[in-house]
Amino acid sequence: MNIKKVFICRPIPEIAEEMLKKAGIQVEKNPLDKILSPDELKKKVAGMDAVLSLLSDKITAEVLASAGSQLKIVANYAVGVDNIDIRACQAQGVMVTNTPDVLTEAVAEHVLALTLAVTRRVVEADRFTRRGEFKQWMPLGFIGPSLFGKTMGIIGMGRIGSLTGEMAHSGFKMKVIYFDLKRDKEFENKTGAKFASIAKLLKNADVVSLNVPLTPKTKHLISSQEFKQMKQTATLINTSRGPVVDEKALVSALKSKEIWGAGLDVFEEEPKVNPELIKMDNVVLTPHIASATSEARDAMAEVAAKNIIAVLGGKKPLNQVC
Ligand code: GLV
Ligand code: GLV
Repeated sequence: MNIKKVFICRPIPEIAEEMLKKAGIQVEKNPLDKILSPDELKKKVAGMDAVLSLLSDKITAEVLASAGSQLKIVANYAVGVDNIDIRACQAQGVMVTNTPDVLTEAVAEHVLALTLAVTRRVVEADRFTRRGEFKQWMPLGFIGPSLFGKTMGIIGMGRIGSLTGEMAHSGFKMKVIYFDLKRDKEFENKTGAKFASIAKLLKNADVVSLNVPLTPKTKHLISSQEFKQMKQTATLINTSRGPVVDEKALVSALKSKEIWGAGLDVFEEEPKVNPELIKMDNVVLTPHIASATSEARDAMAEVAAKNIIAVLGGKKPLNQVC
């Protein structure tokens, strides 16, 4: 019998490897918690039937060609698939899968974590306290905008956007406005959310959360024109992909106080972070950790393994992207 082989690009929760082995698939992996270079990746995927990739692995046409014609599936350990050349996969007859659903709660929680951290100045106040500067109670210190009853604007009403809207609405009694390519009547009924153009959303929202995938159409969706339309008291939250925001324009909007602040989990040239952002107190930065709950990461590993087992067994996977 021809034993199928999978390459796992970085250590992920062990459940994936256990499941794959149990299904009779031979597992090869990068044992180091270090992104493989394009050349290393090309060598490692050669002869594999499946690749379990991370969002930090660029699955290019060259990588696919080097894998060979037996490659059946690239199972991404992420919901976003912008690291994968989808067209090249289609051309080579390679299926692509992702891990949606299981990380929705984690990411929506992180949107709110960043929102509160920025509006209530949690990180800035923490630094102040650690520096030993808390000498007396401050009636005028660390004042920021309240969230309760304000307006949450969500751009991209997929699973993550909807749950973020629901949490904001049920927890903070926020009004929700959203923009998407299509309207979601069920969500509107559940949360009283209103559909709006991007321009109207930017004008009215106190928090703007970006929840779109990165595509040529969403690159720099938020740039200097958009910052000009936002409220001066507004907070921008990006947990989607860095290039959705024009980072230079963001720096300048923050410097000139066009907006109140920003919470960023993703960056335009990840893992590089614009040094200007690092200097700013009205910005909270996290290293692309929105899905980093033990529940979500374990479930993502399980889903990626299930997708591979299905495809190598000649079945339809749970989460086919193409
Ligand atoms: C994380 O950014 C993901 O796409 O899962
Ligand atoms: C994907 O990002 C989603 O919203 O499910």
